[in-house]
Amino acid sequence: LLANQVNSGDSEIDSSSLLTVLNDLHSQYKSLNEGAVAKYIPELAKVNPDLFSICIATVDGQVHKVGDSEQFFTIQSISKVFAYGLALEDRGRDYMLTRVGVEPTGDAFNAIILDEQSKRPYNPMVNAGAIATTSLIKGSGPTERLNRMLEMFRQYIGHDVFVDMSVFTSERSTGHRNRAMAHLMLNFGMIDPNIEEALDLYFQQCAVLVNCQDLAVMAATLANKGINPITKERAVDKAYIKDILSVMYTCGMYNFAGEWAYKIGIPAKSGICGGIIAVVPNQMGIGVFSPPLDVRGNSVRGVKVCEELSQRLGLHLF
Ligand code: DON
Repeated sequence: LLANQVNSGDSEIDSSSLLTVLNDLHSQYKSLNEGAVAKYIPELAKVNPDLFSICIATVDGQVHKVGDSEQFFTIQSISKVFAYGLALEDRGRDYMLTRVGVEPTGDAFNAIILDEQSKRPYNPMVNAGAIATTSLIKGSGPTERLNRMLEMFRQYIGHDVFVDMSVFTSERSTGHRNRAMAHLMLNFGMIDPNIEEALDLYFQQCAVLVNCQDLAVMAATLANKGINPITKERAVDKAYIKDILSVMYTCGMYNFAGEWAYKIGIPAKSGICGGIIAVVPNQMGIGVFSPPLDVRGNSVRGVKVCEELSQRLGLHLF
């Protein structure tokens, strides 16, 4: 009900009750000490596990935040959502479907698997599909492709974005599993032979620095059919919102996607940084940041907070 009120125009009452809910959830889950921060990218292991923030941005441009909302971290897998949008704009829906599927895997995000028949990666949210997706972003060379990617993030967030060089080089020098996936796709002719360039761009996109407030605004931009609700700038063609949100809904939380859809009921995407974005179409974007992860690579506090937010604000789509 509160979710509906947010759009009713009675913003004074709505804002304060929304903030009350965020403050409640923050103090409720602050002491939850479960999960472990991601360590397979050495630079990420250094993060403070106590950092915790919850932010909501509404489609009418209000931002509500609690906790460490200004703390920067690398966006990691959450970037896959936005890179998919750019690749769709560059290549169109039909071509994208020939290169990357839209089927959930039920496997871990870093599973080395391709569809048996088509040899496509299953979907753009798992690593293999994300690497293939990023390889399809257009540009005359690596610099132009990176700049186009950064410009796309700027439109969603509303300010310039930067790549964390230490995290980028840390992943580039240790990301053998992702390299193996790229080689497997190359073996089947499913990716351009210049895989090192594609991997570099993928590692750079994962190392883009954002804070929790940025996550909420990015999610709100998707909720607002591609227009950033604060700057009013368009970040993605409206035609592709349904593509993006559908794959987020079915694949965004990896092998937890089914349970997430059942319990929480809104499109979402997690990253091993400990961030989660969730999109309530035409209403709001949610960002949560808390580094300790469960075994599937989803933020422990992030999942709990979204579950409770969905219940308390009545956000489930069905
Ligand atoms: O490619 C990787 O493994 C990381 N750069 C991103 C993985 C990730 O965030 C998965 N999310 N749960």
